[in-house]
Amino acid sequence: MAVKINSLEFENVKRIKAVQLTPSKNGLTVIGGKNSQGKTSVLDSIAWALGGDKFKPSTPQREGSVVEPHLKVTLDNGIVVERSGKNSSLKVIDPNGNRGGQQLLNSFVEQFALDLPKFMNQTSKEKAATLLRIIGVGDELYQLEQKEQSAYNQRHAIGQIADQKEKFAKEMPVFPGVPAETVSASELIRQQQEILARNGDNERLRRNKERILNERDNLVEKICTMRLELQKIEQLLADKESELKIACKTVENLVDESTAELEKNISDIEELNKKIRANLDREKAEIDAEEYRSQYNELTDTIKALRQEKTDLLKGADLPLEGLSVENGELLFKGFKWDNMSSSEQLIVATSIVRKLNPECGFVLLDKLEQLDSDTLKEFGSWLEEQGLQAIATRVSTGDECSIIIEDGNSIVKETTQKKEWKAGAF
Ligand SMILES: Nc1ncnc2c1ncn2[C@@H]1O[C@H](COP(=O)(O)OP(=O)(O)O)[C@@H](O)[C@H]1O
Ligand SMILES: [Mg+2]
Repeated sequence: MAVKINSLEFENVKRIKAVQLTPSKNGLTVIGGKNSQGKTSVLDSIAWALGGDKFKPSTPQREGSVVEPHLKVTLDNGIVVERSGKNSSLKVIDPNGNRGGQQLLNSFVEQFALDLPKFMNQTSKEKAATLLRIIGVGDELYQLEQKEQSAYNQRHAIGQIADQKEKFAKEMPVFPGVPAETVSASELIRQQQEILARNGDNERLRRNKERILNERDNLVEKICTMRLELQKIEQLLADKESELKIACKTVENLVDESTAELEKNISDIEELNKKIRANLDREKAEIDAEEYRSQYNELTDTIKALRQEKTDLLKGADLPLEGLSVENGELLFKGFKWDNMSSSEQLIVATSIVRKLNPECGFVLLDKLEQLDSDTLKEFGSWLEEQGLQAIATRVSTGDECSIIIEDGNSIVKETTQKKEWKAGAF
């Protein structure tokens, strides 16, 4: 059975002078009052009494009081918790009258139940992680999500390559009616080179003529400077003239052969081969694109299967509240994320998760419930009752919903509440 609070007695803690409270066993007990009267001090005192030094207020003793704080909480499992004396030392007495300590309390007191805002202020991911820890599928879900993410990334990259290849293949030209393999131009090139060699010989003869011309010029010059050898040189000149005549004649009859025809044939082959290679490239690109497309489709199937596995995993899990789920590491309630839940939905979600964290703990403390209107408050109270949960809450109000009013650090039990309890046969 989950442990609940039977009664509280606090004196001289923070704003409290003397407060006594017997909270309802199930559902909501609202501590009302105006601002700064000591409502939150009551919750702080419960947290300190049951949660230990971690929850000790920085100034525990009420200013103006000469008496040390005194806290007493009686639980419905028979345990009595007291703090008193100079160091507010802890005394825990179990139903058999044996002494216990903080460790005994820790076994059934959930830390988040004493400090619900600590849970509510967690990030969506932290809340989801807490939930997954409770239902024990966190690791498995994490691994599925990792696998899904990696398959997704892979598919995205492959898809881009497939698109590129397809586009590339489409842009390439196709040439019908050309041979499938490239053609050789070497024979034509050899013929071309022979002709070029013969033309080279001609060139040499032309250069020879040029050289002879130069020599004759030199001789003419010599005629001018060497009168004595004039005769001899004139003879040489005459020889040269005739030699030149022959050379001129030779050159005159020279005809260069054309390689234009061969050049054209060579370039035709180049063109043809270009087309053949283009056809082969396009064929290869199409095969590539097809391969990537089929890989993409396989990955789509993988992702679908992983998502189904995730859904099945959460479906099979024992969730603390109907409508709760986790998607992409975030907590969802009825399909909505935390910031889209209403205040009471947030309270219900937080309370049920915290409840599940330690099922031994049957109570939860809630500060500042003025955020809920009275209808929502009633709705939340009924839900708590259905769950068999005890909630002790504060609210800036002196209305009927309050079980107790705190005024200047003192508790005033409301008459209506007393009547209710009379009717319920509590006395
Ligand atoms: N040790 C203390 N002694 C006296 N007053 C205190 C002490 N600690 C806090 N207070 C005062 O208590 C008031 C807040 O009390 P709290 O219980 O939070 O009120 P409530 O929740 O009703 O608004 C503040 O005015 C603060 O100054
Ligand atoms: Mg307060």
